[in-house]
Amino acid sequence: MKKLIISNWKMNYGPIKAGAWIRAFRRERLPKDVDIAVAVPFVSLPAARASLGRASIPALSAQDCFWAEEGAYTGEISASMLHEFGTEMCLVGHSERRAFCGETDDMIAKKAGSLQAHNIVPVICVGDTAVQRKKGEHMKVVKAQVAAAIAMLKADTKIPFVIAYEPVWAIGSGKPCVPQDARDMHVAIRGVLAKKFGATTSEKIRIIYGGSVDTRNILEYMTTMGIDGALVGGASLDPRNFGLLCRAAVPA
Ligand code: PGA
Repeated sequence: MKKLIISNWKMNYGPIKAGAWIRAFRRERLPKDVDIAVAVPFVSLPAARASLGRASIPALSAQDCFWAEEGAYTGEISASMLHEFGTEMCLVGHSERRAFCGETDDMIAKKAGSLQAHNIVPVICVGDTAVQRKKGEHMKVVKAQVAAAIAMLKADTKIPFVIAYEPVWAIGSGKPCVPQDARDMHVAIRGVLAKKFGATTSEKIRIIYGGSVDTRNILEYMTTMGIDGALVGGASLDPRNFGLLCRAAVPA
């Protein structure tokens, strides 16, 4: 399975800086056998698209969307709007949205379903908190998040979905989850997918890891069985550093 690395800018870079980031990143030498995407704020998607020109790398991702098609939902952006200018992926259920915007599993399931229906690959973020891990509840919590989020999704389609396992305590903390622990969680997540879609199909769904991934540890994640890529925040804010990280993701 081709690995996937996504840069998540979070709430950084308006249109001016977004254009500059894309142009700088386009100058980087990139590995061929890795899919690369960049998740940018809504307002910066047009500038990122314009700076990409005809280039298709990195693929463009949004960071959120709303589930309804259109209507009286002030401030929201629908999947069909994102599709209009070629957004290929979209994050949903990032732990920061669960924490700061009160997103629930049900909302996340509806968002993911709407994205897939509009030919955008949903990247569903799930993850345990430090307290849940301490209590030994982390597997149960994450499995339940996954089961809820995939309720409306199909797996046997040209528009697959991606699961991003991001332990909340590892995000932005400089304390990444040890690859073996991440692998154990990925195995558990794949079990949930297999239950719904069957073992063969579940093997084709990418489960990526996120949380303090950087240029030094990326290779270890990418070479750990069952980890199909990475979602990178802080270490991807500088386009040159993200280029370095992408190169470091493949064995020399
Ligand atoms: P981080 O963020 O790489 O800065 O830990 C990852 C994420 O939240 O997607």
